[in-house]
Amino acid sequence: MRILVLGSGAREHAIILALRAEAAAHEIFASPGNAGIARDATIVDLDPVDAAAVVEFAGDDNVDLVVIGPEAPLVAGVADALRERGIPVFGPGKAAAALEGSKAFAKRIMHEAGVPTGRATRATSLAEVAAALDGYGAPHVVKADGLAAGKGVVVTGDRAAALAHAETYLPTGPILVEEFLSGPEVSLFFVSDGDTVLPLSPAQDYKRALDGDAGPNTGGMGAYSPLPWLAETFGSEAEFVEQVTRTVAEPVIRRLDAEGTPFIGLLYAGLILTDSGVKVIEFNARFGDPETQVVLPRLVTPLSELLMAAASGTLDHHPAPRFAPDCAVTVVLASEGYPESPVTGRALTGTDAAAAVPGVHLAHAATGDGGADGLIATGGRVLNVVAVGETFGQARERAYDALGRITLEGAHFRTDIAARVVS
Ligand code: AMP
Ligand code: GLY
Repeated sequence: MRILVLGSGAREHAIILALRAEAAAHEIFASPGNAGIARDATIVDLDPVDAAAVVEFAGDDNVDLVVIGPEAPLVAGVADALRERGIPVFGPGKAAAALEGSKAFAKRIMHEAGVPTGRATRATSLAEVAAALDGYGAPHVVKADGLAAGKGVVVTGDRAAALAHAETYLPTGPILVEEFLSGPEVSLFFVSDGDTVLPLSPAQDYKRALDGDAGPNTGGMGAYSPLPWLAETFGSEAEFVEQVTRTVAEPVIRRLDAEGTPFIGLLYAGLILTDSGVKVIEFNARFGDPETQVVLPRLVTPLSELLMAAASGTLDHHPAPRFAPDCAVTVVLASEGYPESPVTGRALTGTDAAAAVPGVHLAHAATGDGGADGLIATGGRVLNVVAVGETFGQARERAYDALGRITLEGAHFRTDIAARVVS
């Protein structure tokens, strides 16, 4: 198959590596990619949010399938443009991508579909925000309605800080004030063709910058999959997945279909396991980063067939995705100053030695050509070390052994990824 993957992060590298790991001889194109992706795919120089350019390349170069990694091209309507031209694409159209692009839209869909989620109030003035904050009480949860590159959410006990956050984002659109929910968080992905829904295996990510869940929120500092502790509450991981498929994914997919905006792509359910049941915190309309880096290495089912079945509306004939019982751990190597003000341009060395550790591979997030070993860091999250093992202890050992072989001045990473499932 000739496959074009849009995006430039470790998630896209993980998708490409999973396609490469299939026996089939795919021709893979990536745009814009990064220095690591360039080793596993042909880089195409086009802007992934430029729908006309993507359609032109996919049409002229006989691309069989386009896979959209990040949210920006989805919200820009790139999937719609491809579908209009009859080019199979894995990723929802603009209208369905609003499930991620507008938190107020997501709340309305959940409400109408009867999906369990926290209470929320939409506010368009500071006075409305203040009233809602006092109504729900502390801790306060304040969110910008639209995409804010992971910076739109604040969870705080400080009422003044909650108000200040709302004041920052009010000029950009409505604000959502939410009821605070408490419990462990789980990310669960679903592949959908707009009608049929197939779940993948759950993962947990680490959003805070520092060990022990301290420090600021980030795009994600690490993840692991599967989640053995789900069995304690739900009997088994499979029962948990079945429950969420029935109570969350299927009703949402049906509701979107009924509105004439079928969701074709990856439905990411960000869940919180509260004392009063599983609730949705947020939806994304794409694969999660860094969860994808631990879910896909465990996928036994050929990824291209799964994505193609979704893109072509034949998921009802596709078997349920199967996963290896392996334990997968990923740790993000971040530049000095990430997330506030990452220092970029520094040399990155030791990546070949890291990748030589058994069970380890690297997924590049922000790397470019240059430096002593041929690589420099070009962003905040630089790369993911991904380790697979028979146990989480083994996977963790491998991941941190590999990280110890990489040098990037000033870099930092969390040392406690998946530690809770070892002890
Ligand atoms: P979001 O961008 O909506 O996923 O929010 C980012 C993070 O903020 C989530 O992963 C949670 O850790 C936290 N969060 C968001 N909404 C809530 C809530 N209603 N209650 C508690 N924590 C929340
Ligand atoms: N892991 C969080 C996200 O992909 O949005």
